[in-house]
Amino acid sequence: MPLVSFCPNVSFLASHNGSNMRAIVAAIRNGILNAVPRALISNNAGSGAIAWAQNNGLSTYHVSATSKGSEMAADTAIVSILRRYNTDIVVLAGYMRKLGPETLQAFSGRILNIHPALLPKYGGKGMYGRFVHQSVLKSGDTQTGVTIHLVDDEYDHGPVVAQAPVGIYPDDVVETLTARVQAKEQELFPETLRRIVSGEIDLDKIAAAR
Ligand code: GAR
Repeated sequence: MPLVSFCPNVSFLASHNGSNMRAIVAAIRNGILNAVPRALISNNAGSGAIAWAQNNGLSTYHVSATSKGSEMAADTAIVSILRRYNTDIVVLAGYMRKLGPETLQAFSGRILNIHPALLPKYGGKGMYGRFVHQSVLKSGDTQTGVTIHLVDDEYDHGPVVAQAPVGIYPDDVVETLTARVQAKEQELFPETLRRIVSGEIDLDKIAAAR
């Protein structure tokens, strides 16, 4: 796998709305981020992410273990789509499935996930979306945040690339906290990609340092 190019091809995986995909594509269109949005793969044929990507010039694919016949076949299909678009960076934009070994190996050190908490807190199996915010609110913590990390074969586990804090207010409920965390995600992801493209963040160094 070559080093990240000056203007990388970025492909996305998303299960629901793909809010981070939308923010990254907006940053590219606004000239803030030098990259090319290529394909969107979703395990959910009815997802908002697929509808949005279709209307915004990305190639879209529905890939799931059910549609492909097995987890292994889905894994192979994902690699083949990502390769077809010469993908340099894979962005998991709210993708609620574990990636298979073929994808992890083919794009090792080049797959970024966003998690709505300050990992290693509130990560792991079952910790996604509103379940994260429910646990955070129950804990009594006064601060949460956002983490972007390289993906490995464990949920929410790979080396951290960037983090940003988000304050918790006494009257917060899951919906208000989700909105505030997602607003921070949509700043942090484009900005982190911009720093990767500019060379300020070196993914190889981060992957090697673990
Ligand atoms: C985002 O907040 C993302 O950080 C989170 O799911 C949400 C997806 O929202 N991801 C995880 O929890 C991964 N462990 P969206 O479907 O509205 O884009």
